[in-house]
Amino acid sequence: MASGHLSREEALACEGCRHACHVMLYCDTDARLFGRKPIKHVILMQMRFDGLLGFPGGFVDPQEETLEAGLTRELSEELGLALPISEEHHVEARYAPASPSSSSSSSSSSSSSSLILHFYVKKLTEEQIREVELAAVSTAADHGHEVLGMVRVPVYALKAGGGLGPFLSHAFIGNARSQLLDSMLRLNLVTPHELHRALAHALSGQARTTRDLRAAAAAVEGRGPLL
Ligand code: APR
Ligand code: MG
Repeated sequence: MASGHLSREEALACEGCRHACHVMLYCDTDARLFGRKPIKHVILMQMRFDGLLGFPGGFVDPQEETLEAGLTRELSEELGLALPISEEHHVEARYAPASPSSSSSSSSSSSSSSLILHFYVKKLTEEQIREVELAAVSTAADHGHEVLGMVRVPVYALKAGGGLGPFLSHAFIGNARSQLLDSMLRLNLVTPHELHRALAHALSGQARTTRDLRAAAAAVEGRGPLL
């Protein structure tokens, strides 16, 4: 269980653990941005109720249903259609990092049971991806509540630096960003060189974002910088 990773079986054998399952849905595409730039791949993520980007899915209780049946149920709530997920789509299970609030203060109690995060990847056709996007705004029970909208990951870099770099600098839930990066590399959706450049761009954008936020906070306060 190096670096918090477990097999699916080890994860299920954990007594008292809670489980959450999320999935990356993706497809290849021949579409071009502005009729020129190959888009190559579509990866679906979602803007969550908490303002963070994440993958569709949620909590599953293995005492009541299999992990995959639970994930399929979560997808029908969040995406509005039945999308069967099976064990073959399971990529990894790992312990969620302890949140600062739960690790501090009072002695450890049974209420702070470990959360195991299961991650799945499923390849769809481009038509199926469009069906998911349509259902997510028309029939999904969670639309406008737990899910504010589906988003496509720009898996490309524009000459001016736009694309994957700025996308990666948004805020993500849990380890969703590293799940995305690992999957793109493992599935050869980007090269290590492309990913390195995108991450370098995201990092260089951080300083500007921090400046903008400080200026905005100061403007709201009506006087000097708050931070
Ligand atoms: N990577 C790592 N952790 C994640 C990811 C991800 N990609 N996505 C979500 N999580 C974590 C969340 O922080 C949460 O602790 O997994 C847990 C469950 O995932 P959600 O999708 O948020 O759960 P869901 O069942 O859809 O419920 C939505 O309703 O009851 C509320 O606040 C509760 O977060 C819950 C929300
Ligand atoms: Mg969810």
